[in-house]
Amino acid sequence: MAGIDYSEKIPNNVNLANDRTLQRALEHWQPHFLDWWREMGPKDFANADVYLRTAVGVDAEGWAHYGAVKMPDYRWGIFLADAIPDRRIGFGDFYGQPVWQQVPGEYRSQFRRLIVTQGDTEPASVEQQHLLGHTSPSLYDLRNLFQVNVEEGRHLWAMVYLLHAHFGRDGREEAEELLARHSGDRDKPRILGTFNEPIEDWLSFFCFTYFTDRDGKFQLKSLAESSFDPLARTCRFMLTEEAHHMFVGETGIGRVTKRALEVMKELGNDDPAAVRRQGAIDLPTVQRYLNFWFSSSLDLFGSEVSSNAASTFANGIKGRPDETTQYQDHVCADATCDLEEPDGKGGLKRESVPMRNAMNEVLRNAYIRDCEIGLKRWNMQIKRAGADFELKLPSSRFRRSIGIWANLPASPDGTLISREAYERQLPDWIPSAADKAFVKGLMQRVATPGKMASWIAPPDRGINNLPVDYEYVHLS
Ligand SMILES: [Fe+2]
Ligand SMILES: [Fe+2]
Repeated sequence: MAGIDYSEKIPNNVNLANDRTLQRALEHWQPHFLDWWREMGPKDFANADVYLRTAVGVDAEGWAHYGAVKMPDYRWGIFLADAIPDRRIGFGDFYGQPVWQQVPGEYRSQFRRLIVTQGDTEPASVEQQHLLGHTSPSLYDLRNLFQVNVEEGRHLWAMVYLLHAHFGRDGREEAEELLARHSGDRDKPRILGTFNEPIEDWLSFFCFTYFTDRDGKFQLKSLAESSFDPLARTCRFMLTEEAHHMFVGETGIGRVTKRALEVMKELGNDDPAAVRRQGAIDLPTVQRYLNFWFSSSLDLFGSEVSSNAASTFANGIKGRPDETTQYQDHVCADATCDLEEPDGKGGLKRESVPMRNAMNEVLRNAYIRDCEIGLKRWNMQIKRAGADFELKLPSSRFRRSIGIWANLPASPDGTLISREAYERQLPDWIPSAADKAFVKGLMQRVATPGKMASWIAPPDRGINNLPVDYEYVHLS
């Protein structure tokens, strides 16, 4: 494999210098990206020295270098995981054939749409988090936010490279559009709903990195199976970076929970109002935030039954996560899948659909199982503290906007109830205006090394074996 070349204007391991046209096109896009970063990236921290990791290799071991960097000087680049020699297509109608190094003409528009949709989410999340740095609960957290932000910026580079390298003029235009759409913009919003939700407080940020970045993980895992090898390799390396984003979410929610438990213990009761008076976030509020972000992230997987999903699977464009190790049948020509569906009369019916058409649901279910892992850990913590509370994932029918459950009045436990009962109880199930105001009110910046805001416990350890009280961000 080619090592990462940092002497280039655009660090890369794809031998960019050998393709002058592509190099020039990307060097033309680069200042537009930097303008976007300055305008839409973390506000007011351009001069801060941030302890960031930068990719220096693509092996799982020791792939990153850590050091203080000013974010605008971060070396965004193009890093693909090493090619697997003689890699074969792992699923669908072309199973067993050699993978593609170029996009076949007949699948060009499908690939382009997938790459653009994935690419659009990356800068969107940076935009959503534009102001969060002002209210970070600690320098440790501030650094993690910025790490996630610069890496989402790099993920945009990953997709823009594919667009430039493989989609000609259309690809270049799409790359420009990726900088022109903005999260929450009335005229030119980001493509997917969740990525237009503002993230104005850190509990939302932790939920976003836990649930929404995890959707990203699953999309990347299924694209890492793609027959189009450059896409597969790009996504494989992105997954290496992505793991930290979900770590930030899982430990973030875990620390909020831990702090609530400490306060409950001090008070000797679990009254949410009393917990709030101590400047912590009560567990029922945490639950409402989970309900909101989980349900909103579930929609990102698309409809349960989808001819589009069937064709991207059949054509080898998008596989299932861990296709080789998790499944026996990689073709699914005659396989079926049983789905529980609403019967239109307030009840349920079972429907058997071709497996290929149910691929979105297969992916969503794998995602839900992965989401459960954090809940188990948080609940263990609650149990150990002796508190009588359990955090739960709501049913995948709850508050859906896409697919067979869209706009149906289902409670968090999945029961279909009357519209009236649903409307009445919804404010108890997702964060109310008062919850949001309370949480926002807690958001005050803490900028002393090692100190934490009142609503969050310190992390168990620091970054890269440094102590928790290391000055992860030097504000000048
Ligand atoms: Fe990403
Ligand atoms: Fe991410």
